[in-house]
Amino acid sequence: MSGRVEISGAKNAALPAMAASLLTPETVQLENIPYVRDILTTRRLLAEMGAAAEVRPDGTATLTAAEIPHPEAPYDLVRTMRASILVLGPLMARFGKARVSLPGGCAIGARPVNLHLMGLERMGARCEVVHGYVEASAERLHGAYVLMDTVTVTGTENLMMAACMAEGETVLDNAACEPEVCDLACMLRTMGARIENDGTRTIRIEGVKNLHGCRHRVIPDRIEAGTFAVAAAITRGNVVITNCVPAHLHSVLEQLERTGAEVRAGEGTIHVRGRDPIRSVDVTTNPYPGFATDMQAQYMALMTQGDGTALITETIFENRFMHALELIRMGADITIEGGQAIVRGGKPLSGANLIASDLRASASLILAGLVAQGETVVDRVYHLDRGYHRIEEKLAGLGAVIERISR
Ligand code: EPZ
Repeated sequence: MSGRVEISGAKNAALPAMAASLLTPETVQLENIPYVRDILTTRRLLAEMGAAAEVRPDGTATLTAAEIPHPEAPYDLVRTMRASILVLGPLMARFGKARVSLPGGCAIGARPVNLHLMGLERMGARCEVVHGYVEASAERLHGAYVLMDTVTVTGTENLMMAACMAEGETVLDNAACEPEVCDLACMLRTMGARIENDGTRTIRIEGVKNLHGCRHRVIPDRIEAGTFAVAAAITRGNVVITNCVPAHLHSVLEQLERTGAEVRAGEGTIHVRGRDPIRSVDVTTNPYPGFATDMQAQYMALMTQGDGTALITETIFENRFMHALELIRMGADITIEGGQAIVRGGKPLSGANLIASDLRASASLILAGLVAQGETVVDRVYHLDRGYHRIEEKLAGLGAVIERISR
């Protein structure tokens, strides 16, 4: 594949940014919002709560949560998007009550939210689980010291929003450092929040009386950028990725260089040339700034083309190897042992009919299809549409032979 591809806004920055609009009765204007399914689901969720919520294909969104007569997130919405849990923190901060369906598990793991609830309770909330819903209430949240024993991205984001208008100071310890967490902190500061040391493991928030509206542009999607970088490497292509922040995927780019790809980071661009041989190199997923779990499936597709054996260790989710089963059906030599996958490269893949199981697994199957002999059909691509905007058009623009078909 060769050419230039422009990266869309980050889904995982846009979702908390949209939830943050609940923190103020004033209007919030967002830009660079990816027009993907999860964003439309969040718009619907905010509207059903009573907010005026508009999301446009041009990447702008206008959200005004003047009145929220229904501070709740119903099961039928939450089950399609577990990130709905992100409304819990803002609702508790502004209204002191919320009823949010428990997200439940998904294909990649149990996905508990115990740390979200623990933090709110430390801030004075009462959280009960009744009929599959979290029912939370508090007169007024007060600042607290919250130590999360596992690094949780949305947990950190939820508690940061909850702490914005709590009485006094909150310290979030062992906090997530993902760029999306920092992007949310930036947005909250423009709304009047007092947040320091976001991007480190210890975030400090001083509660204020209220927050005002703002205009915020979300960061580019580092996982989409990483996905196209792997696409260039696996096809031995020559691709320039634009409208991205190379520093946000430093670990991924370093790993790609170890496999032999030539990577040049520029101002908002990444130039990737894939080269032979693709070297088999071990990787372990870790919280940011480590190698992103959201890039693990894409990397596994690349390692099926490696010149030896690569050990992929997944430390974040307990069941994030569903894509391996489908890659094996294409002829890949992969053995799963607990949280580790042993990928023996050197065997050509053959096209097959595949079924996607989750968002990043779908991307992995498409990357494998790009280099498999013959035709590959990936079913249930609605998983893909949750987080990638028109991926088939972007890949086709780089020379891939790919089309969306309706069965
Ligand atoms: C966010 O999910 C992302 N989603 C995920 O991206 C990403 O894979 C994940 O972070 C890890 O980077 C959004 O930001 C919307 P976690 P999140 O809480 O916040 C355990 C995608 O592809 N945990 O950081 O739900 C949990 O079980 C999605 O876009 C608890 O035990 O993930 C997991 O093992 C998939 N208790 C680990 O922490 C809790 O209360 C990390 O989960 C919360 C989490």
